[in-house]
Amino acid sequence: MKIIIINGPNLNLLGKREPEIYGSETFAEIFKSLQSKFPNVELSYFQSNIEGEIINKLHEVGFIYDGIILNAAAYTHTSVGSGDAVKGIETPVVEVHISNVHAREEFRHVSYIAPNAKGVILGFGIKSYELAIQSFL
Ligand code: DQA
Repeated sequence: MKIIIINGPNLNLLGKREPEIYGSETFAEIFKSLQSKFPNVELSYFQSNIEGEIINKLHEVGFIYDGIILNAAAYTHTSVGSGDAVKGIETPVVEVHISNVHAREEFRHVSYIAPNAKGVILGFGIKSYELAIQSFL
């Protein structure tokens, strides 16, 4: 089973960025522990701060991989293009957020990804990624 985690803008700063919201682990550490928790899953990881690069990656993997875990971060709430990309590909996408976006500012309550996603997992901290992988198994 081939699953990719795609992280959007500012998630390269995990571990340093607002640790009271996003925790103190880097994504490299999180990814390592996911790999050891799911040894039978072929896991890969992509991060970009650039909207078009995320869309290109969705196109690249979206007809080949078995699952996509997408934390589009701030683009979740703004990017019609990312939502259209999720709609246009075949691989199922699970939308993930570390924080409970519904308990935060109103602009975070909107998602352009969710209507086209297989499901949404949010608010469980970095465990949200683990739950998303489990949802594909
Ligand atoms: C986030 C929530 C978004 O609103 C925010 O812009 C992020 C991270 C999360 O994982 O909780 O950058 O997607």
